[in-house]
Amino acid sequence: MAGLDKDIWIIANWKSNKTISEALDWVSIVGPQIPKKDNLKIVVCPAFSVLSELKKAITVGAYPIMLGSQDLSPFEQGAYTGEESASLIKQFVDLAILGHSERRKNFAETDDMVEKKFKQALENNITPLVCIQSEETPIPQNCNMVAYEPIWAISTGLVNTPGVGKADTPEDANKVAKAIRQKYGNNLEVIYGGSVNSQNVKGFITQGDIGGVLVGNASLNPEEFVRICNLM
Ligand code: PGA
Repeated sequence: MAGLDKDIWIIANWKSNKTISEALDWVSIVGPQIPKKDNLKIVVCPAFSVLSELKKAITVGAYPIMLGSQDLSPFEQGAYTGEESASLIKQFVDLAILGHSERRKNFAETDDMVEKKFKQALENNITPLVCIQSEETPIPQNCNMVAYEPIWAISTGLVNTPGVGKADTPEDANKVAKAIRQKYGNNLEVIYGGSVNSQNVKGFITQGDIGGVLVGNASLNPEEFVRICNLM
């Protein structure tokens, strides 16, 4: 929003959505319309299969958008069938979402695995964004950025009906962010995720201890994503 001088992170988590052509359509709409501001950090995290083509389109358009992944391997590159190692994707991404609750629930991801992925990210100069589901979720040492995402608040909103979702309240989310920063230090950037859309985003980013948002459903719709970015 006009006047905010702190860094604001707007991170789109596309989850298992969008083909290459859908991703290119999205960026052709979003890219030219998002504001170029030094303190606005916009990151899009698509499926691995889309990273290469999306990177090309962003570079050609000189859009102020970084790319991220939604996960990465806990191992170095090598004999690990099906895995995407940090060293293989670092040419495309600046950031990696780690420990999302959907990975913990559907893929039995443990805190120990998150820790290993975290180390791989750091060794390959990728910023790890560790998702925590509560104040009790362990945060790896030297972590600079977490996303607080209460499980009950995720994906309750519909893409085309902003305001319908059941996000946490900005005040409650800020209470958790503040408590985490009291425990781990104020250098830890805490962003909020869970049913964020253009109707409620301002409430979160104007809180003192919240440095941005992780946006799932609402980020899939290019017009809605542009609305969110333009509110900053
Ligand atoms: P949502 O997803 O915005 O659709 O709730 C957020 C997330 O899971 O990262």
